[in-house]
Amino acid sequence: MYEGDIASVLISEEQIKKRTAELAAKVAERYPTGAPEGDLLLVGVLKGAIFFMTDFARALPIPTQMEFMAVSSYGSSTSSSGVVRILKDLDKDIAGRHVLIVEDIIDSGLTLSWLMRNLRTRNPASLEVVTLLRKPEAVKVDVEVAYVGFDIPNEFVVGYGLDYAERYRDLPYIGTLDPKVYGG
Ligand code: XMP
Ligand code: MG
Repeated sequence: MYEGDIASVLISEEQIKKRTAELAAKVAERYPTGAPEGDLLLVGVLKGAIFFMTDFARALPIPTQMEFMAVSSYGSSTSSSGVVRILKDLDKDIAGRHVLIVEDIIDSGLTLSWLMRNLRTRNPASLEVVTLLRKPEAVKVDVEVAYVGFDIPNEFVVGYGLDYAERYRDLPYIGTLDPKVYGG
């Protein structure tokens, strides 16, 4: 698939699976008998987090419920605009709920810090973040991320939900994109 577009496999399907199980075990430690006041609410950020969200939820040994939000900070370009817009909001009120945001990747951290501020105003009982990937730039931003799958180099990556111009989400691994694809 996508012959010649992927420069290298950065994180294999097996590595993703193993790390997802480890992250799920950590989250389950925090809620040994499930979250109080209703099940733990996973808020997946569309579309990038879809594969991670479904695998992560199934790896968690506690009951969870799922909600999705779609925000945009990127068009089809590969760098952040800093402008965040809600494309699809949550269907449910999260007041009093234990919420875990499920993210695919934190790059500049702008999207997540905006999202956390936004969700905090809705008064959840707790608000934490699990992200599969984090780039070094994100470390400079003041967002507390409780659970991180992999810290990766500052390269554009695709696969396992992550796209370039809506392509490559269906790859089962995380790979780096050959710069020729985006005219680099
Ligand atoms: P910020 O910079 O706000 O960006 O932390 C977060 C969002 O940007 C997208 N993003 C990427 N998408 N490959 C992608 O396919 C990448 O390497 C990449 N870096 C950032 C992504 O949608 C993320 O939620
Ligand atoms: Mg994207």
